[in-house]
Amino acid sequence: MTKRTKQKKSPIHAAITGVHGYVPPDVLTNAELARMVDTSDQWILERTGIKERHILKGKGLGTSHMGAEAVRGLLKKTGTAPAEIDLLICATTTPDFVFPSTANLICDMADIRNIGSFDVQAACSGFVYALTIASQFIELGTYRKIVVVGADKMSAIIDYTDRATCVLFGDGAGAVLVEPNRKYGIIDTMISSDGAGMKHLHQKAGGSRMPPTAESVAKRLHYVHQEGAAVYKFAIARMAEVATELMRRNRLTKDTVDWLVPHQANMRIIEATAERMKIPPERVMVTIHKYGNTTAGTIPLCLWDYEAKLKAGDRLILAAFGGGFTWGGIYMTWAYDARSPRSEDRAGEGARSKGGGRGLAGRLAYILKAPFAMLVPFPASSLRRGG
Ligand code: ACO
Repeated sequence: MTKRTKQKKSPIHAAITGVHGYVPPDVLTNAELARMVDTSDQWILERTGIKERHILKGKGLGTSHMGAEAVRGLLKKTGTAPAEIDLLICATTTPDFVFPSTANLICDMADIRNIGSFDVQAACSGFVYALTIASQFIELGTYRKIVVVGADKMSAIIDYTDRATCVLFGDGAGAVLVEPNRKYGIIDTMISSDGAGMKHLHQKAGGSRMPPTAESVAKRLHYVHQEGAAVYKFAIARMAEVATELMRRNRLTKDTVDWLVPHQANMRIIEATAERMKIPPERVMVTIHKYGNTTAGTIPLCLWDYEAKLKAGDRLILAAFGGGFTWGGIYMTWAYDARSPRSEDRAGEGARSKGGGRGLAGRLAYILKAPFAMLVPFPASSLRRGG
């Protein structure tokens, strides 16, 4: 399904040389959601693996606020001056404005001036798309220091009367520094899309096709419309496809992949992808229980959460899917050993704490206080379609 692309031949790799994240301090728990809509903590946990998510509150704060927090922290922790940055790319589906771009705003807020900056819109695959674009500039030698941000304030476009979508999403941002490296970095990338998926996942109003009107607001057309089951089937098929294809064409096996870094949309989708790759739970990055689906933020937030465990040379497979439909993956080797002390490296409150660092089953047992097997099994039809 994914169109074949040429593998990279450049002797210079684009390597991630730093990562930072930000989640806002306000936490929305399943118990609170159960007071807002007809749902329960148990339903949400069993169907999605989500326990809580962070929500950005505060007048006048948009996605750029979280992106700028992540970027400022990244510059500080990597000892990089704003003037050293050559390019900033922000993946987001919830820009502060139609224009200017959120990347422009983040640059201003982080005191990064007179460089190129732009947004990438590929829904939940946005970070993989943006990192793929950044890697081209590095490999060609055009730029030496690029910041890639994945940030979304999903709470701005979620209908908190729709129980099928409001339980899934949260707000957050992650940012990485990308630099040239002869030894480590991005080895292979795949991005793909199929616009026919639009009918299953989109926001009906607010764009040029249906500009905002009193009627569009009254009809609640400015929120995420999602047909969950259709998206679920697509997600399982494409996440597994892109991850296994990256393994195949880079001659990787379940024993030579150190980490799967999956988009965090649903715990069952993450587990299905890992099963297809035959990657054991302890090598799968999972943050969904505490952040929910932060769209473009999920993958950099995973890297931030697990940074302390990563070692130079670790082989990572990133895999994502999202609205569009879009999907994509990246195979890379990690470029550095964990920095210490880790305690300085915190932006949001309550981040990177509970449950991190255990295996998948262990983490879920922690979340659910029950064996992993209690999660609702995959529908057989989804598995067949993906196979
Ligand atoms: N609480 C209780 N019941 C619920 C809830 C809820 N929060 N939400 C839905 N239900 C009900 C439904 O109404 C339905 O009831 P019915 O049988 O009486 O009609 C029942 O639960 C089952 O609904 P399904 O949609 O079949 O439930 P499913 O097991 O598929 O889980 C979910 C729903 C979690 C949304 C799942 O389909 C999913 O994760 N889909 C993928 C979503 C995704 O990954 N999106 C990512 C892209 S986002 C982006 O790109 C911006």
